[in-house]
Amino acid sequence: MDLDLSHPCIEDLRQRAKKRIPKFIFEYLDSATGRELGLKINREALDAIGFMPGILEGRVEADMKTTFLGQTFDAPFGIAPVGMSGLIWAGAERHLAKAAVAHNIPYSLSSVAVASPEDVAPYIGDNGWFQFYPVSSPEIRRKMLPRIKAAGFDTLIFTVDVPEESRRERQRRANLTVPPRIDLATVTSMAAHPAWCLAHLREGIVPRMRFFDDYISQRGRESFTHAGRLIRGVPDWNSLRELRKEWDGKLIVKGVMRPEDALRLTEEGADAIWVSNHSGRQFEAGPAVIDQLPLIRAAVGPDVPLIYDSGVNWGLDVMRALAMGANFVMLGRAFQYAVAAFGPKGIDHAIHILRADIQANMSQLGTGDLSRLPDYLLKRPVPQSSAPPAVLSKAS
Ligand SMILES: Cc1cc2nc3c(=O)[nH]c(=O)nc-3n(C[C@H](O)[C@H](O)[C@H](O)COP(=O)(O)O)c2cc1C
Repeated sequence: MDLDLSHPCIEDLRQRAKKRIPKFIFEYLDSATGRELGLKINREALDAIGFMPGILEGRVEADMKTTFLGQTFDAPFGIAPVGMSGLIWAGAERHLAKAAVAHNIPYSLSSVAVASPEDVAPYIGDNGWFQFYPVSSPEIRRKMLPRIKAAGFDTLIFTVDVPEESRRERQRRANLTVPPRIDLATVTSMAAHPAWCLAHLREGIVPRMRFFDDYISQRGRESFTHAGRLIRGVPDWNSLRELRKEWDGKLIVKGVMRPEDALRLTEEGADAIWVSNHSGRQFEAGPAVIDQLPLIRAAVGPDVPLIYDSGVNWGLDVMRALAMGANFVMLGRAFQYAVAAFGPKGIDHAIHILRADIQANMSQLGTGDLSRLPDYLLKRPVPQSSAPPAVLSKAS
């Protein structure tokens, strides 16, 4: 099958993933919270960002090499952390890590992934970032941090936009509970997806949050509940300060929406700011993330490394985020759809789709230089903190 013909964009991978995995898992992956306005707001704001195309510029080769936090990657995008990725598709964390190395992009391993840092370490080389939620016990945190470092992860992502679980009604309706409840509906749903079952049988491990195994005594269903309690430390400025003191690697703070928070985070020692609203999974009534990006850039100045995520599904979206002030762009769901749709070759294909779309669109602009993207914006962002959230208002 020529995937470029049968599945030319991420939405095609999403549709195939929907057919290949049990419904409760697809809803976990695909849903946002409430009426899911967060997804819609992000999409509409991204779509409102246009570029002026150019002509007669000859052959354009998009130069996608991007240096971020001192490391040069082959693309300006990477893989965002997704909890329980190995439940979405068996061995997903390993497949994603291998693809990240093969394509020289970063892979962020979630602290609530199925695979532990040690499981992923043999495959990830220097391209691994580790995502960390605040843990309620400082003693456990002090054991976890050296373990993460010893497994070879030098960059820690501290996620701060989950003060509490969100409702995610679609996920609830699909009967997804933590720990997963194995009832007739889930068993029927699993049985109806033989490729998914077979992949799990081959992998041979019961999906659980393996990073937490060493810190808890129970196993199976119980371990989920206990792990939940462990990670449900509440992020606050004090926990950030302690983490900064204890972690001597690079620290990225993820889930930032307000310019004043971004500025304060840099003062507190964050090495990079990850601008994100968890793609509408936590709160649906905030502004579009992309509209906050230029405001945050204006607040922190030109030198603070900024990451954008939330709603990126096209190479063109990557370009939009770069044009609005990001240095790097991450994608969550897209890579999970990809691995669920076609296993490892799906990940390669998703990377191909994004690169090909960037190349095609950069050609239309007539420049291969990603740093020049702001010059091509149809309307320049207003770099004032008092600017209304919709920087590129459709009315204007
Ligand atoms: C199923 C799922 C699980 C996620 N788990 C985590 C997580 O464990 N830690 C975290 O920091 N972010 C997590 N995220 C958020 C992603 O890292 C990222 O911010 C978001 O998915 C980006 O938006 P996109 O999916 O539209 O690309 C998760 C997202 C999804 C869809």
